[in-house]
Amino acid sequence: MTEILPSILAAVFARLGEQIAQVERGGATMLHLDVMDGHFVPNLTIGPPVVTSLRRHSGAFFDCHLMMTNPGQYLEAFARAGADGCTVHVEIGGTDELVDQMRRLGLRPGLAANPDTPFGALEPHLDRVDLVLCMTVFPGFGGQSFMAEVMDKVAQVRAAIDDRGLAVDLEVDGGIDPVTAPVAARAGANVFVAGSAIFGHERPWEATEAIARTARAATDRTGPEPAVGRPGPGAGRPAR
Ligand code: DX5
Ligand code: ZN
Repeated sequence: MTEILPSILAAVFARLGEQIAQVERGGATMLHLDVMDGHFVPNLTIGPPVVTSLRRHSGAFFDCHLMMTNPGQYLEAFARAGADGCTVHVEIGGTDELVDQMRRLGLRPGLAANPDTPFGALEPHLDRVDLVLCMTVFPGFGGQSFMAEVMDKVAQVRAAIDDRGLAVDLEVDGGIDPVTAPVAARAGANVFVAGSAIFGHERPWEATEAIARTARAATDRTGPEPAVGRPGPGAGRPAR
């Protein structure tokens, strides 16, 4: 199922509650919360106290992307704050323990990979997580350009998920907009995180809908049958 998650990193932080309410009124049921620790990435953002505060104002699913060197120390705090899912990066190691910890805490476990981290690093963990996140920018900042070169890895993850019959969501994050979302959808992504494209838009909900529409259209196989070969006048002529 196709899901679009507004990333609050691009929202106006002074008006966070209001901005979240706006996308929720438009229909968003899941939000992406970027947690940066100043070590794994050269930037700092929010932590459990902000999640606690937002939880009081929102019933949405909180998809927390932990760009942290030591997420294990904070998973319990995020669960208590009201996170629904947490995604840790495979580059930091200790993935098995972190996934076990997330399951024990009732968090939906996700595993992320930077653009230059190969499929082989994710492959051994696919059967144990509920979500795989292929970063389509180097994490740390919003507003960067989508890296199409990551699509080969997205396709590899999709093929492995389908071959093994797994119920794993495949998320992309970074530079997603109505033009890049269909590219990622064709490669096999079904969950799309977008910050600037949504909160940078005058009417954020319209941008969210445009991303959903273009992503779905890219993989829609239920459209009308092609005219070529249909019986009747003109059959056999090339379709225009
Ligand atoms: C980048 C974050 C992204 C970011 C995406 O480190 O993980 O979630 O918010 O922002 P845009 O959509 O602006 O690239
Ligand atoms: Zn993110």
